[in-house]
Amino acid sequence: MSKPRILVARAIFPDIVDRLRQHFDVEDNPDDVIWTPQELAARLADKDGVLTTGSQRIDAALLSAAPRLKVCANMAVGYNNFDVDAMTAAGVLGTNTPDVLTETTADFGFALLMATARRMTESEHYLRAGKWTKWSYDMFAGSDIHGSTLGIIGMGRIGQGIAKRGAHGFGMKVVYHNRSRLSADLEAECKATYVGKEELLRTADHVVLVVPYTSASHHTIGAAELALMKPTATLVNIARGGIVDDAALAVALRERRIAAAGLDVFEGEPIVHPDLLTVPNVVLTPHIASATVPTRRAMANLAADNLIAFFDGRGPLTPVNQPSTLR
Ligand code: DGY
Repeated sequence: MSKPRILVARAIFPDIVDRLRQHFDVEDNPDDVIWTPQELAARLADKDGVLTTGSQRIDAALLSAAPRLKVCANMAVGYNNFDVDAMTAAGVLGTNTPDVLTETTADFGFALLMATARRMTESEHYLRAGKWTKWSYDMFAGSDIHGSTLGIIGMGRIGQGIAKRGAHGFGMKVVYHNRSRLSADLEAECKATYVGKEELLRTADHVVLVVPYTSASHHTIGAAELALMKPTATLVNIARGGIVDDAALAVALRERRIAAAGLDVFEGEPIVHPDLLTVPNVVLTPHIASATVPTRRAMANLAADNLIAFFDGRGPLTPVNQPSTLR
C-alpha cells in the first residue's frame, strides 16, 4: 500500500522530517521558502496531510484546492491561521501543540516583562552607542516587579504559568481576566484574583496579554483601554498580533500615557508598525516566546506525532476540532 502524502510547509528539524519519511511520502521545504497561498494550494493538491506553522492560512479556498487533504498539524499552540469552521465543514481535522511550550513561553513572558519594566534594551542601546559617560540618580529608572500588581488577560496554561512566577517568585499581587473564571483550586495555586477587564487595566502595574486571537479578541487593547492604564504601567503582548492596536499603542508610548511595552507579536508580522520602531520605550522581539531548542523540538515532534497517530487510525493526540465526518 502506498504511504500517505504529506507536505511539511516550512523548514523544521531535519531529523524530524526523516522520522516523518518513515511513515509518509514527504515533500518538505528545507530552504524555508515562504509560499504564496496559491503556491501552497498547488503543493497541497495531491497531499493527504500537512504540517504547518502559524504562517500558513488554511481556509475554505485552500481546502477546495486540496481535495485529498484530511489533516493539518500546526506546530504552534495558537491556530488562528486555521479557519476552523471551514475545516470542520470540509471534514478536515486540525491539531495544535499545547502543553509542550507552556513553561518556556511563560519564562519568556516574564523575561519580557522584566526587560520592559527595567528598561534593559533601551539602556543597552544607550551604552552601545557610547553615550554612557556618567552615573546619574535617575538614569533608566524603571518600575519594580517585586511587590507590584500583575494583571493577566487570558488565564490559560501560559497565563497561569506567568501568574505563578509572579506570585510565588516575586511576591506580586496577581489579578486576572478571562472568558471564564478559574476553579477555586487553580486560583489558589496561582494566587490570582478574578477581576473585570476595566478594573484590571486601572489597577495593574504590569499587564500581560496571553489571550488567543479570535474576532472577539481583536484589539482587546486599543486607545480606550490604554487610556485606563496607569501612566507608570507596562504592557506585554506575547499572545498574537491583532490583540493590541499597534498604532494606538505607539501613540500611547510616544506620549508617555503608559510607561513602556514589551511586544513579541505584531499586527501584520513580520512587518512591524513603523512608529513602534522609533519609540524608545518598547522592547521588540520577533515572535520567539516558545523559541528554545528543546521546546521547538517538542513542538515539531508533537505535530509529527499528530500526523502519525491520525494516519495510523489511532486518532490525533491534540485535536482542535471534531468534524462529524472526515474526508
Ligand atoms: C504558538 O505556539 O502559538 C507560538 O506563538 C508559536 O507560533
